[in-house]
Amino acid sequence: MATEIKIDEGARRFAAAEQRMLIGSDWVEAADGRTFEVYDPSTGDVLGHVARGGSEDIDRAVKTARAAFDSGPWKDMTASERGRAMHRLGDLILEHGDELATLEALDNGKPLGVARVADVPLAADLFHYMSGWATKNTGSTLSLNVPYMPGAKFHAYTLHEPVGVVGQIIPWNFPLLMAAWKLGPALACGCTVVLKPAEQTPLSALKLGELILEAGIPAGVVNIVTGFGEETGAPLAAHDEVDKIAFTGSTEVGKMIVQAAAGNLKKVSLELGGKSPNVVFADADLEESIPGAANAIFFNHGQCCCAGSRLFAEESIYDEVVAGVADHAKNIKVGSGLDPQTEMGPLVSTEQLERVCGFLDSGQADGAETVVGGGRVGDSGYFVEPTVLAGTNPQMKVEAEEIFGPVVTVKPFKSTDELVPNANQSIYGLAAGVWTNDIKKAHRTAAELKAGTVWINCYNVFDAAMPFGGYKESGWGREMGEEALELYTEVKAVCAQI
Ligand code: NAI
Ligand code: MG
Repeated sequence: MATEIKIDEGARRFAAAEQRMLIGSDWVEAADGRTFEVYDPSTGDVLGHVARGGSEDIDRAVKTARAAFDSGPWKDMTASERGRAMHRLGDLILEHGDELATLEALDNGKPLGVARVADVPLAADLFHYMSGWATKNTGSTLSLNVPYMPGAKFHAYTLHEPVGVVGQIIPWNFPLLMAAWKLGPALACGCTVVLKPAEQTPLSALKLGELILEAGIPAGVVNIVTGFGEETGAPLAAHDEVDKIAFTGSTEVGKMIVQAAAGNLKKVSLELGGKSPNVVFADADLEESIPGAANAIFFNHGQCCCAGSRLFAEESIYDEVVAGVADHAKNIKVGSGLDPQTEMGPLVSTEQLERVCGFLDSGQADGAETVVGGGRVGDSGYFVEPTVLAGTNPQMKVEAEEIFGPVVTVKPFKSTDELVPNANQSIYGLAAGVWTNDIKKAHRTAAELKAGTVWINCYNVFDAAMPFGGYKESGWGREMGEEALELYTEVKAVCAQI
């Protein structure tokens, strides 16, 4: 059923109002009273102001989360009650769908229609799905055989306990959805949280904070401290009273998180960069795989950690695939996220615009062939042309590094034997795509690709039930699905002689 897409005026007012942080049940200013500006990336204009948290605010939020973890009411709620509150949160997200989608379009720049049919319902579904796990994350009974205690009998079992106070640092590409991916499993397991949204896109997480309280999740269980990476994220990652840190963002900062976590050896999970191969075999249905390959890279303006940014096409169909994807790229309507005609919005920030344009320049300097695109669109807002590059090699930055913009490299290949090592030639291993009508080839290739997700004859399919995460430098651990519970669970073995 189609959802009617509406710009929500309440979201504009929310964006324009000075926004505070959530600590306990209070919406507070930063301890030093500072704020920072948030921008509309389609114009570069200031949208509003948000509290600029620092280490004092982080400390206060962590102590609040600690108190909420150690004493009631969260701890005393049954798993079923916890699940019901999470389920209500999912419902509230759907009820506030227009407002949340408008906030995403304003703050991140993504098309409103995309936020309304993807980000918002996926975030709601994550809470609905995870609410069911609240009652099911249980241990097991064990049958023991202790050789040096012949004849002794035991009742032994495992308890699944929440890991404790969790710090969660999220990026700006799917602001609401990343908050949901992080909060859902942590709450299902009974943890308490200090969430730090990205400085580029703090608004939807703050709105989510209101809904969290409205859903009946007790004060102090989720605290939201807004601010910058070094000022706000770093003290959270280093804090001694934080038991676990979960991070999504750049591999560079992921490595800093690991270092920061070493102080108290807090647990760490990381969802980092990617340079995902997307492979079209000659026997694929090109009517599906050409738009599929375009969607794999251009969805969310290429600002996806799993973007299909290295396209491989079998030699005999290479020209057709390049022409088809280029044609698709040319026809994408680039514009403001609030314009209903828009298919691709601006990049999120002036830094990302410079970064992506820097990659385009380096490709040119290295001798890559620009098939289509290759530059900025207009001179206001942070728009970049959907771009297809050919003639690249793994030594070029455009083929080796994560660009995080609407830029795909495309290369021919002769055989599967040649393809697999090339596709795996990356420090990353987040996702991959395989397009073929040969069922054996599809699954054989899926088995050989070093990636946490392999999509066959589709791309960018996400579901709360399906684990997501990376091999190699793409990260540690898996989000979503049953696997996500492991990130927030301590297992206790209890052994009683009977
Ligand atoms: P980033 O990794 O700096 O930012 C992600 C989050 O980490 C933000 O909330 C930020 O405030 C926080 N952060 C930054 N420095 C920190 C520190 N020292 N300690 C703790 N938290 C810190 O990413 P950025 O600078 O926004 O983007 C740069 C590149 O990173 C992008 O071009 C892209 O390649 C990659 N990236 C990957 C993402 C993914 O989903 N895997 C998401 C965002 C960016
Ligand atoms: Mg950064």
